[in-house]
Amino acid sequence: MAEKTHSHDMTLSDPATGKEYTLPVLEGSVGPKVIDIRKLYGQSGYFTYDPGFTSTASCDSAITYIDGDAGQLLHRGYRIEDLAEHCNYMEVCYLLLRGKLPNAAEKTEFEHTITYHTMLHEQILNFFRGFRRDAHPMAIMVGVIGALSAFYHDSTDINDPEQRMVASHRLVAKMPTIAALAFKYSSGQPFTYPQNKLSYAENFLHMTFSVPAEEYEINPAVARAMDKIFILHADHEQNASTSTVRIAGSSGANPFACIAAGISCLWGPAHGGANEAVLQMLYEIGHKDNIPKYLEKAKDKNDPFRLMGFGHRVYKNLDPRAGVLKSSCDEVLDQLGVNDPLLELARELERIALEDDYFRERKLFPNVDFYSGIILKAIGFPTSMFTVLFALARTVGWVAQWNEMITDPNQKIGRPRQLFTGSDERAFIPIDKR
Ligand code: CMC
Repeated sequence: MAEKTHSHDMTLSDPATGKEYTLPVLEGSVGPKVIDIRKLYGQSGYFTYDPGFTSTASCDSAITYIDGDAGQLLHRGYRIEDLAEHCNYMEVCYLLLRGKLPNAAEKTEFEHTITYHTMLHEQILNFFRGFRRDAHPMAIMVGVIGALSAFYHDSTDINDPEQRMVASHRLVAKMPTIAALAFKYSSGQPFTYPQNKLSYAENFLHMTFSVPAEEYEINPAVARAMDKIFILHADHEQNASTSTVRIAGSSGANPFACIAAGISCLWGPAHGGANEAVLQMLYEIGHKDNIPKYLEKAKDKNDPFRLMGFGHRVYKNLDPRAGVLKSSCDEVLDQLGVNDPLLELARELERIALEDDYFRERKLFPNVDFYSGIILKAIGFPTSMFTVLFALARTVGWVAQWNEMITDPNQKIGRPRQLFTGSDERAFIPIDKR
């Protein structure tokens, strides 16, 4: 990681006390500089206030860079568009975890390592059977991933780099197996096992869709689209679930527990749950004639309805992942001969929203989740699996960020402060006097 440098100092003056505080301004390699407020409380007695961390950098990181105004997403310096076009997901995993793209030999070795970690301890299958059949697959994911620490004790010492790497490989490798089993369990089909001759994406499709009565024939275009979806979701710097993983990890919790925390956070509709919510929204809108009515609902602050798959905390221009997915969507539907009226509806909704002043003024554009659901539906996934696929693909990002945090000498337990608005100390009232 390139070291941050001291750029200059900034002065904060407090008219209430007449005091001045000097705050160092730090500079990374690219992107906004930061005001270092670590000593502010000690010097002034003030906290800073930033709910939702809209202006706060929580860590140093050298993994992913986003320029929201330019619609740019870089992993270790490489454009997401280039990675999606020229790499497979395993190369992107290697890049995120090790900091550089693998050469041919390194790629083969890494793929071999991941492939040979895809099987699960057989007893883990008993966990699935404890869930109700109608359990949401994300609920199963949270439970089973958290339980992995009970099976893989030999990779839970976070101070041992070797154990951290083994845990990272295990998580990336076992996630498709667990995701496919969550699907199998909720659809009442027998569990399938991984096959080492298949690629990462192919193996996931095989484990999800093949049944003992019939081998699933893997369409190369579908496998490529699946792989691309994994690449596009692999990492996204300090988003809600990644920050959750970092905060969970900052206490020294084991990696499996930290990733389970990330999955829980991802589940919400404002984050990874949006892809499922987009499809539900399109079903609800139903016909393009209803679009104006739903746009009015989205603009009405008294109505909880939001245009799902639109808007982003960081992107105030096109989400580059949405651009790649939009063309991938056309390709996959074409290859599969699927003519989905929802795609037509989604395109029309995007067109009308982008012409609307409300969305233009607020710079609300389609995000990664707007088109991904339509592709996943065409491949044959039920909507309840959409966020599971996001979690599967994001695991490598969580794991890379967790490793980076553990090895950061400035790492401290995550412990925000608060602006207290409750009662000051008051006299206790015995129960018979309340
Ligand atoms: N529909 C209608 N209005 C919206 C939307 C939307 N999807 N998104 C934001 N706005 C409005 C919001 O009401 C606010 O208006 P005003 O300034 O008049 O109060 C303004 O735009 C700014 O929104 P915000 O909620 O302050 O922005 P945020 O950065 O806190 O939220 C977001 C970002 C992604 C949570 C939000 O845009 C949203 O809820 N989008 C829909 C859910 C979604 O698609 N989430 C997936 C995000 S991408 C995948 C991922 O990284 O997880």
